[in-house]
Amino acid sequence: MGRIILGTGSSLPEKVVTNKDLEKKVDTNDEWIRTRTGIKERRISSSGEYTYVLAARAAENAMAMAGITAEEIDLIIVATISSHMLMPSTACFVQQEIGATNCFAYDVNAACSGFLYALDMADKYVQADQQKKILVIGAETLSSRLNWQDRNTCILFGDGAGAAVVGHSNDEQRGIIAADLFSDGKLWELLHMHTAASCNADISVPEWSGAHIVMEGREVFKHAVKAMAEAVHGLLQKTGYEISAVDLVIPHQANVRILNKLVERLELSTNQVLINAPQYGNTSAASIPIALDEARRNGRIKNGDVVLFCSFGGGFTWGASLIKW
Ligand code: ACO
Repeated sequence: MGRIILGTGSSLPEKVVTNKDLEKKVDTNDEWIRTRTGIKERRISSSGEYTYVLAARAAENAMAMAGITAEEIDLIIVATISSHMLMPSTACFVQQEIGATNCFAYDVNAACSGFLYALDMADKYVQADQQKKILVIGAETLSSRLNWQDRNTCILFGDGAGAAVVGHSNDEQRGIIAADLFSDGKLWELLHMHTAASCNADISVPEWSGAHIVMEGREVFKHAVKAMAEAVHGLLQKTGYEISAVDLVIPHQANVRILNKLVERLELSTNQVLINAPQYGNTSAASIPIALDEARRNGRIKNGDVVLFCSFGGGFTWGASLIKW
């Protein structure tokens, strides 16, 4: 071990949108949303709160906790499916926003599993060179990628960003223990987002009307619970940990019903799992680092704790990661 998270940060848009607010936009109601998803409200970006702006604020908070400056960062990896532009990457926008003049930067697209994918890359870079300090960010403004007439999807998501600085510690008993990541492109149609219209008529798909999330909710639900539970079981078996030895599970905050099923499958006690989906909805790649930052700042994660992340998202992509704090 010895590859640790030196600091965490998060940033959320100011504007709170409640279920009641959504009733004015689309044919839904607070009671349906609460009972089917457990979500009460979400944050939605206003003017200027772009993905890279939220990402940069989260990064600054993480660097402040880690006690390092932007010039000390060697690499920025941003996990997102709602980048500011197709090119350049959101990571390059973050780089200029925070003034990280000594690094390179790129994005990762693994939907809701993006943060775990990016964290795994950072872990490998630090394994290769202990001097490296890497900003891993999950950032989304999915409000810009939703069909606000589609009540099946628009009620689920929110905007936000979370970040972690990954580096080396001389204490080899601490840090990232292991991660297991998976993907399977066969079922992509169950959860996907088109690009904007193609400029090449020969390869354009007329029925792809816009760049927004399309989802078969029930199917996604079943796959999400099964895949996350299997990833967790596999990782625990591989590393020799019992689930009872895990102090805190931070799952991707898809929605409360999915998470309750996961808690049941993993036989977790309620104080072993962090659920903040009621406040923020599903913030995709940002959900794990936002929850992680919450747990660090309110003392729910203490030095020596064993923390487990797990996620599932479009692709499909999924995985789990185990850390000794
Ligand atoms: N408000 C009111 N009624 C609604 C709404 C809404 N927002 N959305 C759907 N309905 C209606 C449907 O039209 C349907 O009506 P009908 O019976 O007259 O046809 C009824 O409610 C039931 O719809 P279902 O889709 O069967 O409802 P279900 O119990 O499956 O709940 C949900 C839907 C919440 C989307 C669930 O399937 C789910 O949680 N899926 C996982 C989706 C998810 O989390 N995706 C995020 C991305 S992937 C990830 O992060 C893991």
